[in-house]
Order: sequence, then C-alpha cells, then structure tokens
Amino acid sequence: MTDRRRQQSLVAHDEHDDRHYGAVHVPVYDSSLFTFPSVERMERAHAEDGYVYSRGNNPTVRELEVKLAAMEGGERARCFATGMGAISAAILSIVRAGDHIVCVDQAYGPTRNFIGNYMRRFDVQVHFVDGSDLAAIEAAIGMKTKLLYLESPSSLLFELQDLRACAELARRHGLKTVIDNTWATPCYQNPLAFGIDLVVHSLTKYVGGHSDAMGGVVIGNADRIGELDRNELVLLGSVMQPQTAALIARGLRTLPLRMERHRIVGMAVAEYLESLSFIDRVRYPGLPSHPQHELAENQMSGYGGLLSFEAGMDRGKLVRFVDQLKFFRIGFSWGGYESLVSLQERAEIGQDRPVPVVRLYAGLEEPADLIADLAEAFRSAGFHVE
Ligand SMILES: Cc1ncc(COP(=O)(O)O)c(C=O)c1O
Repeated sequence: MTDRRRQQSLVAHDEHDDRHYGAVHVPVYDSSLFTFPSVERMERAHAEDGYVYSRGNNPTVRELEVKLAAMEGGERARCFATGMGAISAAILSIVRAGDHIVCVDQAYGPTRNFIGNYMRRFDVQVHFVDGSDLAAIEAAIGMKTKLLYLESPSSLLFELQDLRACAELARRHGLKTVIDNTWATPCYQNPLAFGIDLVVHSLTKYVGGHSDAMGGVVIGNADRIGELDRNELVLLGSVMQPQTAALIARGLRTLPLRMERHRIVGMAVAEYLESLSFIDRVRYPGLPSHPQHELAENQMSGYGGLLSFEAGMDRGKLVRFVDQLKFFRIGFSWGGYESLVSLQERAEIGQDRPVPVVRLYAGLEEPADLIADLAEAFRSAGFHVE
C-alpha cells in the first residue's frame, strides 16, 4: 500500500521547472494546438508523443496524469471529461462485438446501464453478479467473457470485492479487470498492486474535491493505456480541458489531507448512527459491524466520508428527516467539502416494496455540528433520540 505521507509530499511538491519560468504551479496551457518552427520538429513531436493537438496531449492535463499515475502506483494515466468518459473508454478498450462481461451488481447505475443496455447494440452480453461471492463470479465466467468489472466499495451499499482473489481468478480465466476506485481514492486503496489491470476514478468526487469540476481518469500499465490513448481517448474525444485539469490538480494537492479529515468525520457520523436504537443498519466498511470489515482492513488503508443507513420502511418519515437537515444539503454527488444527503432505495428479496436507504456524505465540517444536525432532524421527523 502506498505510504500516505509520501503521497502528500508527492502531490504538494514539484521540482523547479525552467520550462515554466519557475512557476510553482503548472500554468494552464489554454491552447487547442501547438505549432512548430519546422516540419522536422513537428514530426519529432508526433513520434515522441509530444504536444501537437490538445485532443491528444496537453501539458496541463499531462501534469495531472503523471501525478495520478504515481498516486495509484501505475505506469500511465489518461484523463477524460468525466468519470463516465473514463469508465466507458476503459470498457470499450477491452471488449469487442460478441464478447461477454461479468459485472458486479452494485456498480454505479450509469455504468450498469452502459454495460447492460448500451453495449447490447454491439451484441455484448453481461452477467451481473454478487461481488462479495467469488464462487458466483467464477460461475458467471464463460467462453466469451473478456472483462470482469468491479467497484469496491460500491457507492450505496458499500459492498466489497476481494481484489486479490478477483485478479487471480481473472488471470486464470484470461480476462481483464477494471475497477472503479472512486470511493477509496488512491489514498486508501491501490488495486493495481493486487493485479487489477485498469483503475478508473471519477475525479469529480474527492480528487477534484471542491464540487467545481468534472473529470475522470484511467490508470494502468503503459501498453494498456497506450492502446486506449490511440483509440478510445482520441477517437471518442471525451478529453479533459486544460482549465479543468488545473482545478483538479489544485484539488489533488490536498487530497491526502482531506481524506484524513473525511476518515475522521465519516467514522464519527457512522458511530453516532450506529448508537441509535431505531436505525436498522449502518453501511460503512470502517465499522467493525460491516459484514466485510475484515476484508476492508486487509485491502484498504482508510475509509472516506460516504455511508448509508436504513431505518424502517416508512419512507415519509425519512423524507421529513432529510428535509429537516441543515448541514447536509440534498444532492446526489459527494467528495466535495460540503456534506450531502440523498434518499435512495434498494430492492430486497422477499419484500414487495423497495427498502428506503439514506445516503449521507460527511464533508469537511465539524463532526459535532453534523451530529447535532442529524439528531435535530431525527427528532423533528418523529424518531426517538435520547
Ligand atoms: C462510484 C461512481 N463512479 C463513477 C461516477 C461517474 O462520474 P462522473 O459523474 O464524473 O461521470 C460516479 C458519479 O456519481 C460515481 O458515484
């Protein structure tokens, strides 16, 4: 696992760079193209993967890519306009018409939609499986399977996959593996070290960290990223803008520090919720009560601020609770400085109605303020808080 103190130095420190007159932060190269004094220089730039046209390479974007690759312990990274841009490119770089994908059933909704519906246009079939069940994953693998798609922890129910075991299984069956590592960030989990082929992140979340920019990244070895670079990045063109790269690079400077804070605040909120008698279940991999806590401790080095809980089937009461919250603003994303809440649901076998699930994102505010806010909103909604 990457040392977190080293990671903070990595993101905070740049060497003196004469190319930028010693500017401490890489300037925004707001240029769609780069010109040359001679044909020979242009041909050299092409051959050396230099800066020719910003849909391919841009110095501001590349600076961010180099740091993200180092944070994940990967050889190369390529940034995209959004997390979905990165996810769809990673999948398309591996799968061909007629192939089969095994995907964890708790993957992010639009990812499931892309794999399960959109990819049908190319006759790509999928099996969605319980990612916590290695035997179920293996049973779903067939002759045409090319990709095992993982997301660990998932972002509503926080289910984990055993990354070492999944990588080993995939290798044995000749499949490639892709993981969405957005929840853990490169600070708390480095899947490439377990043998996973490609790591994707939505940079819109913790890495950007300020809810003011969208982006995505794919990280892996030089061959895999090189192929994706020549095809899915440049041909589909979902590239990151240099201004966005500068914003995300600024967020990255404090990522390890912020994650440390989210770890503390997230745990405080999770423990508070778990102390309340009317709460049926708190879902947070950092809690010893999480059914996969041991696995989490084994493959992760920390936990962020996103968690969920269930408190009965009375959706109306939970709507009142959510409406009363002041610090937790109602919204769907996470990873910024601001605490957020959303009311979602999950299907339960044997239940005819979906179970309401409240997802909370603990931002950078004081834990005491967040806990007081939760207590007050529970009381107003008619829950019994001591
Ligand atoms: C776990 C996860 N992965 C990927 C994405 C997609 O990222 P983006 O919105 O940047 O496309 C999201 C967005 O919410 C997410 O929650």
